[in-house]
Amino acid sequence: MQKLVIEGERRLCGELTVQGAKNSALPLLAACLLADGESVLHNCPQLSDVCSACRILGCLGCECRLEDHTVTVRADAPCGCCVPDELMREMRSSIVFLGAVLGRVGECSLSFPGGCELGPRPIDMHLNALRRMGAEIKECHGVLRCTCPEGLHGAKTALSFPSVGATENIMLAAVLADGVTVIRNAAREPEICDLAGFLRGCGARIKGDGSDTITIEGVTSLHGCEYTVMPDRIVAATMMAAAAAAGGELALIGARSGDLDAVIPVFEEMGCRIYPYSDRLFVTRSLPLKAVRTVRTMPYPGFPTDAQAVVMAALAKAKGTSIIVENIFENRYRHVDELIRMGAVIKTEGKVAVIDGAPRLYGAKVRAAELRGGAALAVAALAAEGVTELTGVRYIDRGYERLEAQLTAAGASVKRLLE
Ligand code: UD1
Repeated sequence: MQKLVIEGERRLCGELTVQGAKNSALPLLAACLLADGESVLHNCPQLSDVCSACRILGCLGCECRLEDHTVTVRADAPCGCCVPDELMREMRSSIVFLGAVLGRVGECSLSFPGGCELGPRPIDMHLNALRRMGAEIKECHGVLRCTCPEGLHGAKTALSFPSVGATENIMLAAVLADGVTVIRNAAREPEICDLAGFLRGCGARIKGDGSDTITIEGVTSLHGCEYTVMPDRIVAATMMAAAAAAGGELALIGARSGDLDAVIPVFEEMGCRIYPYSDRLFVTRSLPLKAVRTVRTMPYPGFPTDAQAVVMAALAKAKGTSIIVENIFENRYRHVDELIRMGAVIKTEGKVAVIDGAPRLYGAKVRAAELRGGAALAVAALAAEGVTELTGVRYIDRGYERLEAQLTAAGASVKRLLE
């Protein structure tokens, strides 16, 4: 087991390159399964989840090569249709393989993803939509067995909530289905547009991605293509929170301000200056932080739930009272008790967190319980007096490529040690 040892109160200064988006790379890897021949994905983050996705592709009969930040997938004749239980458990988001396997192979068997660190993660919308497209799905002892006796056909689906994963699964199933699929109340996240961009590069016919109605006209086959994964907007938001918490100036190379339209104004309200220039986004914080008006997490283009924890960590030392309302996940305040150990004054009730900015935070022994909450503890540690020992690093490693190296290069003191 490893831990991060962070000595706080050092201003950050320098350039950081924003890694490729994990939440885009995973559906893109699933999408590779649909294309004949070779697909090449550049800018894939080097994360354990990406390795797990490659292992899944291997189990499904694809050749998969990982070199530096490029993954090459050859999916000429995928033969498997089972995602092994241990890989499903390792990565809950492997549910996104369901649509792709069904689309390419016509049947799929995988274990039910169940809950995760953020509470229950139902997949009812994924399954209902796939059923409308002709899939027969049986749930038996925690295993989902899906077949398409008459192949998949296009269908109209209106999602009751713009679920990112359900939208991706439907798109993946629809590109090779017979006829036209229309997704209403579709997720509008930039990762959806990235997936659509890759699939179009492979020959798919998709319109409307980025809006709430996506139309997909099925084609008979797709060919591989070369594509670059979009930059990770949540990693960019985390680095903005780090600059806000520690003070200083960071240049976030590759960060796309358009993906962060709901996040940037929150940091500006805190007193940060943020401006894009050329291929980068500059974040400067020189004055003490101020509290902000209510931040409500929403589906895109609203404020992202994945940035809630890191923003809260920066607000823990901002003068005044801030309020956060978490509307997407039930169990997404697990970092709060740990922030309180560091001197933060935060109360939660249901969806609402009230943050009374504390004049000081103190280094403490804290434990990450999930990915973004773990990153939030690292952000708070940068602003805290003294040394923080952060355990549960494996959660952070699921989404951040060498976080300690990135922060150290910008002037922070972060060491990775054995627990
Ligand atoms: C994706 C992201 C995750 C992000 C989330 C919301 C990936 C790998 N993960 O997760 O980082 O926090 O979007 O932006 O891209 N729901 C149902 N039934 C369903 C599907 C979802 O009730 O069939 C609910 C969920 O429990 C949750 C909400 O809808 O409360 C949003 O979930 P969804 O958008 O599907 O998130 P994920 O795709 O799982």
